[in-house]
Amino acid sequence: MRVTVAVVNTCSSLGIGLAGFGTVGSGVWNTLERNGDLITGRTGGRIALHIAKILVRDPAKARATTSEVPADMFTTEWRALVEDPAVDIVVELIGGTTDAFDIVAAALRANKPVVTGNKALLAERGVELFAISREHQTPIHFEAAVAGGIPIIRTVQDSFIGNRIQSFSGIINGTSNFILGRMAEAGLSFQAALAEAQANGYAEADPTLDVNGWDAAHKAILLATLAYGFPIDASAIHVSGIEQVRPADIAFANNLGYVIKLLAVIREHPDHAVEIRVQPSFIAKSHILAAVHGVFNAVAVHGDAAGESLFYGRGAGQDPTASSVVADLVEAARSLGQVGGHRGFLPYRAAGQLLPVGQTSTAYYVRFDVTDRPGVIAEIARVLADHRIGISGTHSPVNPANPDAEFVDMVFLLHTCPFGQLQTALAEIETLDCVNSPPVVFRIEALT
Ligand code: NAP
Ligand code: HSE
Repeated sequence: MRVTVAVVNTCSSLGIGLAGFGTVGSGVWNTLERNGDLITGRTGGRIALHIAKILVRDPAKARATTSEVPADMFTTEWRALVEDPAVDIVVELIGGTTDAFDIVAAALRANKPVVTGNKALLAERGVELFAISREHQTPIHFEAAVAGGIPIIRTVQDSFIGNRIQSFSGIINGTSNFILGRMAEAGLSFQAALAEAQANGYAEADPTLDVNGWDAAHKAILLATLAYGFPIDASAIHVSGIEQVRPADIAFANNLGYVIKLLAVIREHPDHAVEIRVQPSFIAKSHILAAVHGVFNAVAVHGDAAGESLFYGRGAGQDPTASSVVADLVEAARSLGQVGGHRGFLPYRAAGQLLPVGQTSTAYYVRFDVTDRPGVIAEIARVLADHRIGISGTHSPVNPANPDAEFVDMVFLLHTCPFGQLQTALAEIETLDCVNSPPVVFRIEALT
């Protein structure tokens, strides 16, 4: 039997104002060109989308698109894009927190739904923007802001709405994961690995945010805000990045049965204080997160009803991120004309409490740069003992080319204690004559 499905296209096409046409913006163009008809078919002919206007800094720049973009589509004036009557939905993909804020705020005030992938903007200024969103009953969609192509925002907003979320742990910066992997597997220098990540379109325009941990921290703030319902002050969370990871640390971790990953941990404690931290961490090779390589991200979510779930996929790059933006565009199109379509940061707890980082506990890997002389290990061990911190191992890698080197790295593996207790001990150790620079600390995570 032959079945004919007739799709009746009852819609007129919605115009998109695309602010930003770099890696992600051009990916949105390509995806809509490739799959626009598919979207219209899958929405029963109700939604058709076309790009009406594009905001860039330099309209003359060559663009990575699969078809030519008409020159008259470009503008360098954001107001011309937001105010254009042909623009029904505004997509913000320029990055940053200043012009991007003005564009998003103006679009909301004009009752034009917004789609953004800008985690820095939402983590730092989301409270202001969601207030405008509520006032104007106009939504902001931000699936692309966390974990690239993984639909984690919608999962938390919708699929886990009936769960108390006990924790998230995950790898949520593709660039850092890519760099650590290339250093470990191909022996690349940090700079060479970063250059590859940039060439692949994974890194932020300013890659400092990728390597200093703040891109992952912005994403952690978004997840925590959704899960716990109170605004989170970015300055109150503990963030350190991968800049201090050296090939010797990676090799040492490997010998001990670990890999080093930039890990985000978000956890609600029994007193409802929320722990949020991002830092390079030793993860046992047997743990599933240790198998997350390259630009891939993974987020483990623990809900009181669902238990543990793991979400895995490409965390950055043109097409995966465009996938999330396009999904949001369809959601935004569906919301047009509906009153009260705003979602996202809906504060349902006026104030929540963050757990001070000093009270967070793990085991630790600490690398000291010391002047090698008899008694160095004992001097450091004595201070640790005075602060009741147990040592599970120490090691000082010998340089075969210079076994009598005066300055060496000395590594200590420490038992679990509160971070504040460790910081106090390290401050004292730093005053020892034999210690030449501030120690480098990575967490050793006992993930279940
Ligand atoms: P990008 O490649 O640097 O592109 C930025 C685009 O914005 C460029 O087209 C640039 O114009 C335009 N632009 C920047 N500032 C502008 C301004 N003040 N006025 C007008 N146009 C401006 O950035 P991207 O990688 O696509 O990232 C865009 C956003 O998506 C960021 O918020 C980023 O965090 C987020 N994101 C990126 C990824 C990823 O994998 N790359 C993944 C998830 C989320 P010109 O082209 O003329 O220079
Ligand atoms: N620079 C970000 C990353 C892009 O590498 O994860 C995706 O948010």
